[in-house]
Amino acid sequence: MNDENYFKIILNVLSRNLGINMQYYDKKYLKRRITSRMNYLGIDSFEEYYKYLVRNSSEVYELINFIAINYTEFFRDKEVFDYIYKNIFPMIFKNKEVKILSAGCSTGQEVYSIAMLIYEYLDKDINKYTILIVGGDIDREALNYASHGIYREDEMKNIDDRFIKKYFIKINSKYKIRDEVKRIVSFKYMDLTSEIKDSEIYDMVLCRNVIIYIDQKYKKIIFENLYKMLKDGGYLIIGKSESLPINLKDKFEVISLENKIYRKR
Ligand SMILES: C[S@@+](CC[C@H](N)C(=O)[O-])C[C@H]1O[C@@H](n2cnc3c(N)ncnc32)[C@H](O)[C@@H]1O
Repeated sequence: MNDENYFKIILNVLSRNLGINMQYYDKKYLKRRITSRMNYLGIDSFEEYYKYLVRNSSEVYELINFIAINYTEFFRDKEVFDYIYKNIFPMIFKNKEVKILSAGCSTGQEVYSIAMLIYEYLDKDINKYTILIVGGDIDREALNYASHGIYREDEMKNIDDRFIKKYFIKINSKYKIRDEVKRIVSFKYMDLTSEIKDSEIYDMVLCRNVIIYIDQKYKKIIFENLYKMLKDGGYLIIGKSESLPINLKDKFEVISLENKIYRKR
């Protein structure tokens, strides 16, 4: 068997452990990350690395972390959240009913970051609004983690102390998001690479650090889904190192190029 076949076998091991089909992911990206992990371990063939994976049961988790498929954090790229707070919230909260989607939400930190900011923004007026923030992902395990809303100390590093006191309850060494914040949040399975039959349409859709990992041929359908799920005039926010396909540039107005925020025309 040639070494390329071992690369495919390693992807199968990842698919089985993640419960996600790795065919959606950008193979070049995966190859770069796996090779980099192999270099770190002093291994120079996929065959040898596959054998190492089989011998060391924790390695598959090390690899998943290394590939960063699920990596997320609270207030990731804080300046984007500052921009949303100052410039997007005043627009979307002109309406009393607001729906927001975090597509590819992983373990939920982006969803709760937005929820806390909404509490800050609306303050006592929050009860005058009907708000729903949906977190969608293909990773059911990540969604399960997200729905518990319980985070380890090391996951809390980006959050202001004031926010931690106000929006979390400390339980032993962990932090649980308060029920009032959870009340406006819900999580569900969502595969952005297949046609989405979500009847909801959203005022703002965040899809950050998802398409960067996705194989070129699935990107088109992802953007079609994102476009469809947005209200006219709704806001799309992608990751800071991602870009909008050229063919969509006339369907979206640029709101902040720096923060990758667009508005559906
Ligand atoms: C790196 S995380 C990004 C999390 C968060 N949006 C952020 O920026 O911190 C990427 C997430 O996208 C999810 N994902 C990948 N392909 C997807 C798909 N086809 N549909 C929905 N989610 C997907 C992964 O499961 C993972 O949880």
